[in-house]
Amino acid sequence: MSDLLTEKDKRTKYCGEFRESDAGKCVCVMGWVQRQRDLGSLIFIDLRDRTGIVQLAFDETVDKEIFDLAFGIRAEYVLCAHGTVRIRSSINPNIPTGKVEILVDELKILSTAHTPPFEVVENSPVKPELRLKYRYLDLRRPDLQRNIIARSEITSIAREYFKAQGFVDIETPCLIKPTPEGARDYLVPSRVHPGKFYALPQSPQLYKQLLMLSGFDRYFQIARCFRDEDLRADRQPEFTQIDLEMSFVTQDDVIEVVEGFLAELFYKFKGIQLSLPLPRMTYAEAMERFGSDKPDLRFGMELCNISDIAAGCGFRVFAQAVQSGGSVRGIVAKGAAASLSRKDIDALTEFVKLYKAKGLAWYKNSGGEISSSYAKFLTEEENTAIVEKMGIEDGDVAFIVADSDMVVFESLGALRCELAKRLGLIERGEYKLLWVTDFPLLEYSEEDGRYYAKHHPFTMPKPEDLPLLETDPGKVRSVAYDIVVNGSEIGGGSIRIHSHEIQNRMFRALGLSEEEAEEKFGFLLEAFKYGTPPHGGLAFGLDRLVATMLELDDIRDVIAFPKVQNASELMTGCPSPTDDQALAELGITVVDEE
Ligand code: AMO
Ligand code: AMP
Repeated sequence: MSDLLTEKDKRTKYCGEFRESDAGKCVCVMGWVQRQRDLGSLIFIDLRDRTGIVQLAFDETVDKEIFDLAFGIRAEYVLCAHGTVRIRSSINPNIPTGKVEILVDELKILSTAHTPPFEVVENSPVKPELRLKYRYLDLRRPDLQRNIIARSEITSIAREYFKAQGFVDIETPCLIKPTPEGARDYLVPSRVHPGKFYALPQSPQLYKQLLMLSGFDRYFQIARCFRDEDLRADRQPEFTQIDLEMSFVTQDDVIEVVEGFLAELFYKFKGIQLSLPLPRMTYAEAMERFGSDKPDLRFGMELCNISDIAAGCGFRVFAQAVQSGGSVRGIVAKGAAASLSRKDIDALTEFVKLYKAKGLAWYKNSGGEISSSYAKFLTEEENTAIVEKMGIEDGDVAFIVADSDMVVFESLGALRCELAKRLGLIERGEYKLLWVTDFPLLEYSEEDGRYYAKHHPFTMPKPEDLPLLETDPGKVRSVAYDIVVNGSEIGGGSIRIHSHEIQNRMFRALGLSEEEAEEKFGFLLEAFKYGTPPHGGLAFGLDRLVATMLELDDIRDVIAFPKVQNASELMTGCPSPTDDQALAELGITVVDEE
């Protein structure tokens, strides 16, 4: 049986807010039972809400009926208690309310609870699947509550900042014609138009550009985005962007506004004063030095190109990589010889294979004792040249990959981060922000034999590279920029094409015929004919931004109801089959996959 609340049951304050100064006051609290301790003539109950825990006490002075009620109370029961605050005889220094307790004189059980499938405590070792199945219980954990509340604070700071900067908050539709952002669309069948589909937006990209055309000048939205792509720790099928667009601007204008936001956010949320302007690095430099377009600058271990030495050497793996247009590069883990065993090195070899590297060559100097997987294939001069160029010293371990540039960059870029984690090179609380600029406009897919837009097809090519669009499209750089924090791409944007003529050239470079372009983006090309201001913008991945601010690796920890790797939601079990009637109305036949 559960009690109901009455008029006089009004919470005095939240559980976590009681302090010594409350001693002697008559109060009313409500919350969930963290635990009940029965010491015979004394019962203690820890009562929890989103602010923390307060101790309820029941002793021999308490009504027998209430004492008996308290005796039967279990974890996660929901209570309403009235009583008097008093100073505790044994202080708990670990919680802010630890000096006081509430001696209860009136108690209601508002709701009983089954034994939960796991204890609701911070950092309890519970399988992620179980946590997500019972997400509403998981969300009672203080750490998740803090994350979700922090997220709300961060969106508030964003709203306030962009409003103050003259941005207008405008909603854009969720049932749309596809916007190409590189991922697969989620499709929604239309009942009214059988055989036709809406797409869920991968981002509000086209709509925000059209809003610039409509003269809103500065647009802002906390927007839901949907992408049917392979999930990772930093990717969800539906996620949230802080999305913005500005008219009559250059790249520097967008960057300035965004930096202003970051400075405000870091100051208000972390008390950190960012030094502006933030550093910038071109895509080419980021790849060359860090093997990544989102370099983590909290540690060194930069890539070293040894292709010149490798080109003519006797080790076929090295020489061939260079001869076939690739490269040989390496990184040095300083002072890691003592902490990296052969077994560790073998594990790292498996690690780089995830990034398509065919092998990992290594060189270790332990107190002058050299061991290496490749040294035996090289002359002494070649070995010395590599040691000198890479700066390998006593106590170091060097890792080398020979392959196409892309594989070398991706595998060493990832290895660099993995080593930093393993060797403890990353200091908590440190933030390194930078802009990565001048991205390639297009990306060639060997598989499909055509170019794809690296950002999206509305990104402006760098004016000086425009002539290459027809002659050497792979070389064209774009006016696109990503904001990177601690190795995570938390946002990206670009200046857009606002000329009908350049947009058509871009479509051609993407292999779209005039008819295809017309069919897909006719409305946009038509719109561009009616007076288009130069415009550009950016979108933050809100989930990544929040995770970064909280120094969490998994964005699921900042999303109330996230999906798992296979894009399903374990709590409700979606996606799920639908009934035949609904399918018939949509004119859809489901073919069993065998
Ligand atoms: P982009 O595709 O780079 O740009 O997305 C912007 C930011 O959104 C985040 N993000 C994601 N977060 C979680 N899960 C995902 N699946 C996911 N995909 C992207 C990233 C990324 O930097 N319309 C353009 C923006 C613009 O040009 O203004 C866009 O969507 O942090
Ligand atoms: P093998 O000749 O296959 O015994 O290789 C000798 C060493 O070179 C081993 O440590 C391999 O892991 C390494 N190796 C093989 N292929 C590559 C590659 N593409 N890049 C770097 N090292 C490689």
